[in-house]
Amino acid sequence: MAKEIWQPGNMLYPIPAVMVSCQREGEVPNIITVAWAGNICSSPAMLSISVRKERYSYDIIKETGEFVVNLTNRKLVKATDWCGVRSGRDFDKFKEMNLTPQKSNKISAPGILESPVNIECKVKQIVELGTHDLFIAEVMCVDVDDRYLDERNRFDLKKADLIAYSHGEYFSLGEKLGKFGYSVAKKKASDKKVKSAAKATKASKASRTQKQSGSKKAPTARKSTKTNKRRK
Ligand SMILES: Cc1cc2nc3c(=O)[nH]c(=O)nc-3n(C[C@H](O)[C@H](O)[C@H](O)COP(=O)(O)O)c2cc1C
Repeated sequence: MAKEIWQPGNMLYPIPAVMVSCQREGEVPNIITVAWAGNICSSPAMLSISVRKERYSYDIIKETGEFVVNLTNRKLVKATDWCGVRSGRDFDKFKEMNLTPQKSNKISAPGILESPVNIECKVKQIVELGTHDLFIAEVMCVDVDDRYLDERNRFDLKKADLIAYSHGEYFSLGEKLGKFGYSVAKKKASDKKVKSAAKATKASKASRTQKQSGSKKAPTARKSTKTNKRRK
């Protein structure tokens, strides 16, 4: 195996592609699609978006100091792309995409009603980086569509059907592979019992086989038992 050394480039994928809504007083609200976005602090809850100066939304966000990050899902994927290739200078994006401006709770800029989660933000700092300026913002509140909450009031990602963006393409989220901390999580007592019972069965089978054959070699694997299947 060998690794090629490439020029510096943006290779951090997959990432979200979000629709950021903003509005200047007396004007129609606008939406800009942003992929350079991320969580940056837990408490206070903060996130960042990177926006090019030439975007119509840039001045709106800079002047008002507010924006809403609207998460995108399968239903919104076309609008997500469209709002990322058309400018608010030429189109009323809410109208064109049949989206509904939703009154925010803590800021003046509206969110997008059709989005499962609206994150209302206030800009704290703007950092000039190069092609993009980084807007560092504090989350003022989060509006979550209750259709996507489970019975324990937790946000159900599967139900929300959120999308990811990777190397210029949109993807739905796939199979769950684990959960936070699962690699070090203690096994449940019931799992431990099953495991030690399986171990004991295996050991006794091994000693029986050894006695029968007189050989010291470990027994070859046999068809998996029900218990083994559970542990896979
Ligand atoms: C998937 C996707 C991601 C994008 N990410 C960004 C981004 O992070 N920052 C940015 O300035 N423009 C980004 N763009 C481009 C803007 O969304 C696009 O230029 C848009 O037309 C700007 O709208 P506005 O002129 O109404 O502000 C992205 C476009 C797409 C399709």
